[in-house]
Amino acid sequence: MADLCQEAMDHAVALAKKAGEIVRDALQNEMKIMCKSSSVDLVTKTDQKVEQLIIDSVKEKFPNHGFIGEESVAAGQPCLLTDDPTWIVDPVDGTTNFVHGYPFVAVCIGFAVNKMLEFGVVYSCIEDKMYTARRGKGAFCNGDPLQVSDQKEINQSIIATEFGSSRDPEVVDKIFSNMRKILCLPVHGIRGSGSAAVNMCLVAAGCVEAYYEVGIHCWDVAAAAVIVAEAGGVLVDLEDGPLDLMSRRILAANNETIAARIRREIEVYPLVRDDTPIETKQ
Ligand code: IPD
Ligand code: CA
Ligand code: CA
Ligand code: CA
Repeated sequence: MADLCQEAMDHAVALAKKAGEIVRDALQNEMKIMCKSSSVDLVTKTDQKVEQLIIDSVKEKFPNHGFIGEESVAAGQPCLLTDDPTWIVDPVDGTTNFVHGYPFVAVCIGFAVNKMLEFGVVYSCIEDKMYTARRGKGAFCNGDPLQVSDQKEINQSIIATEFGSSRDPEVVDKIFSNMRKILCLPVHGIRGSGSAAVNMCLVAAGCVEAYYEVGIHCWDVAAAAVIVAEAGGVLVDLEDGPLDLMSRRILAANNETIAARIRREIEVYPLVRDDTPIETKQ
């Protein structure tokens, strides 16, 4: 299994580099932008092309592996994590950034075996930062080791979060209410890069103390979760217990103290889990 993971990880890094070139090239040309669930839920031909490239390559090299990808799920594929080796892919994390040329756009490839995340590759391709981590072997950015911040005081911290893509006034109120509570702790600041994976890599790099969001999907966070954990951080469910990849909630923090402080403030709300069977999703 050890060798399989290394082989898969080397392949993931090569794929992420190739995907990054496609993303950068696309920025030079006119984009085909489409909407999914709403007018602010964007997808481009590049998201679809990158995901297809990764699926085709994984199928060819590892024909028995499972695959969960944002655009495949959008096209009706199931989102079920089994014990089989499974690739969990977000071809373009930060599509809105990509569309606007805002420079935080990441190709995310996570890999799980027996439902345990084994490695994560996040390529922030406009910044040309390749974040990698394998379980038990540390986290790196362009080969340099990563370490979370040792800050334990929330009032000396920067916290990352996002506004999400719901424009339902009730949901927006909840997001602002949570942000207000965090801001008033008080914290040094709140930041959001527009990419869940980049936010998490910034936790791993020690630039921000924590990132939380209600509404993410497993492909947004699977790869980066390994990077945070291997940089010494913690991943918890905003409701209770450790991270539940399919729950649509995440809190990634530098340590338990900061995580507990944030968890106390944040109010969660129910969302349809990623692993809900397609027939019952509507
Ligand atoms: C989104 C980004 C965004 C986060 C959303 C994600 P996408 O991913 O990570 O920062 O707030 O929850 O869905 O759609 O650009 O891949
Ligand atoms: Ca999307
Ligand atoms: Ca995403
Ligand atoms: Ca995406």
